[in-house]
Amino acid sequence: MFGLHQRLERRTLALSLAIIVAASIGGLVEIAPLFTIHQTVEDAPDMRVYTPLELAGRNIYIREGCYACHSQMIRTLRDEVERYGPYSLAVESKYDHPMLWGSKRTGPDLARLGGKYSDAWHVAHLESPRAVVPESVMPAYRWLSRNPLRVSDLPAHLRAQKAVGVPYSDAMIAHAEQDAFGQSAPDSPQAAGVTARYGEATNLRAFDGRPDRLTEMDALVAYLQILGRLTDAAHRPVAAVAR
Ligand code: HEC
Repeated sequence: MFGLHQRLERRTLALSLAIIVAASIGGLVEIAPLFTIHQTVEDAPDMRVYTPLELAGRNIYIREGCYACHSQMIRTLRDEVERYGPYSLAVESKYDHPMLWGSKRTGPDLARLGGKYSDAWHVAHLESPRAVVPESVMPAYRWLSRNPLRVSDLPAHLRAQKAVGVPYSDAMIAHAEQDAFGQSAPDSPQAAGVTARYGEATNLRAFDGRPDRLTEMDALVAYLQILGRLTDAAHRPVAAVAR
């Protein structure tokens, strides 16, 4: 055995070839599953894209490092399914660039958070977690309600998402700024455009409780309320979802 190794080490070409063969096995194990990715990702014709406001909220979620304490992926284990709901499907993060599955859970998984609490609960919790959950170790994010939301870069942001495969239409990109405003001001003239472009089921409300202004809190709460709700594929029987 060691004699063979010694002989191999003296032959540069053979050793190089052996290294390439050994390394390719590892590479193949990682790459081969990607060839069948289209069968891996389930069908979900009802899947919708994030609205500009939700996308902005997702950016704030990344900026504030929420993913460092919260995962967004429910595994197929029974205790997880009983605690959080149906396990996560690949299709549910189809439009997540980058994905936020995470692996660290200082706090609970958030993959099915949408609709679990009211907007007011989220605002109170983000302003001061211990005012709502006394034993919480989550930090407070008080500036979110004070900071106006920057919307000027939203069209460029949608365009970037489109470049990596999210099906944003030209109209969605052109109206991104006004759609962000319209979604958080249901009585405004801009609100109708949001439902026209993103569907009747889109949440239209003043997420931070104040329709007169658009804040980072509006965006983050809009995002939290849509988690796990872009498609109902995970709630359908397995046979109906699998391809
Ligand atoms: C230092 C770790 C930490 C960070 C960072 C953190 N959280 Fe939390 N989070 C927790 C813990 C612990 C809990 C459970 C106690 C509680 O509800 O406050 C929690 C609970 C929550 C809940 C309630 C979940 C449920 O199902 O009851 C939400 C929503 C939430 N966090 C959102 C966020 C958001 C949004 C951010 C980023 C702005 C964030 N968290 C950042 C630790 C963290």
